[in-house]
Amino acid sequence: MGNEESSMVDESAHPSVLEARTVQAVAKYIKEHNVNKIVLMVGAGISTSAGIPDFRSPDTGLYANLAFLDLEEPEDVFDISFFRENPKPFYALARELYPGRYRPTIAHCFVKLLHNKGLLLKHFTQNIDCLERQAGVPGDKIIEAHGSFATQRCIECKTPFPDNEMQKKVQAGEVPYCNDPQCNGLVKPDIVFFGEPLPSSFHDSRDLPGQADLCIVMGTSLSVQPFASLPQLCSPGVPRVLINMERIGGLGSRPDDVLLLGDCDAGVRKFAKAMGWEEELEALWEETNPDPQAREAENAPLPTRDERLREEVTRLTSDVDRTLQLTNAYEQRVRDHLGEPKSSQTVTMSSSSEGTESSEGLAHVFPHLAPESRQ
Ligand code: APR
Repeated sequence: MGNEESSMVDESAHPSVLEARTVQAVAKYIKEHNVNKIVLMVGAGISTSAGIPDFRSPDTGLYANLAFLDLEEPEDVFDISFFRENPKPFYALARELYPGRYRPTIAHCFVKLLHNKGLLLKHFTQNIDCLERQAGVPGDKIIEAHGSFATQRCIECKTPFPDNEMQKKVQAGEVPYCNDPQCNGLVKPDIVFFGEPLPSSFHDSRDLPGQADLCIVMGTSLSVQPFASLPQLCSPGVPRVLINMERIGGLGSRPDDVLLLGDCDAGVRKFAKAMGWEEELEALWEETNPDPQAREAENAPLPTRDERLREEVTRLTSDVDRTLQLTNAYEQRVRDHLGEPKSSQTVTMSSSSEGTESSEGLAHVFPHLAPESRQ
């Protein structure tokens, strides 16, 4: 199903709802019309500043950089028939993309801010990186139209595969197989591959864009159906804001479409500024900042073998010193108790196995008190 709307951007058309086709006019509209049913439709462009490449950007996109996987078509890496034949390219990529290594962007935090303000009806994402969840957007507000790495299962018997085992396999770059020996099928994250149906949650939510009172499209080329058809499901007269490097789909063809062309993070900052939410947005983003000290320690190089040996020797030496001090203090207490003169020498622990001559006093009880052990 192609884009029914003309892809022509009619910027000359006068808006019918907004005062102007600007983000300031959208902010005014939100406040004056008590907008509280915002729908977002996003793609990989909101995660690129986190370090996750998008798919189709000419030089930096994944599809331009999968040559190392020797694929005929770059999209094969997400094709279910190809995966059955050869899962290795996908798992080589999964190792790079697996959640846990990336911090949510300002754009993800903007979605969380809309939720915090009670304005978020639904967040439709094509992304599989779970960064919206990591930014704190509740799961029931998110439609992961192309699935995510959050869960995984056998593609034959559909048995779920344990998360911890999956993490180990992905990090080791190994292909996981079903734990049922009768099955031993390939395990795949619950990501929607080309040739697979979208989750029912997507189809069950297709009426929501029609209920929205504002639509924000961010960081997507709208290249893949049926997701690409979502923006045109918005009711006529409902403003649609595009925050994207480039014009895409039919965005701009309606009188109340607003184009914020450029970087997503800069675009949401502009939007937050128009709403007077700048500080709240920056504070939300700061909350996603892993502790710099911990991060530094985490990334610190592991100690070498020699460093570990030196550490062990230092630890043992201090243990022995401590024991000796205790022994000296104890010996003095015994001498005081017996009214004997103070010992002027530090006792060294004797490990000699020869019979220790018994001597007066407590030597028969505390060998280190014996005269020869004081040499
Ligand atoms: N700021 C703004 N726009 C950006 C940024 C950024 N920092 N980075 C990238 N973009 C834009 C690109 O210009 C492009 O228009 O985001 C869009 C990303 O498009 P794609 O790479 O095609 O990603 P996406 O739209 O998410 O792809 C859809 O295709 O291969 C399938 O399943 C895959 O979900 C994916 C789907």
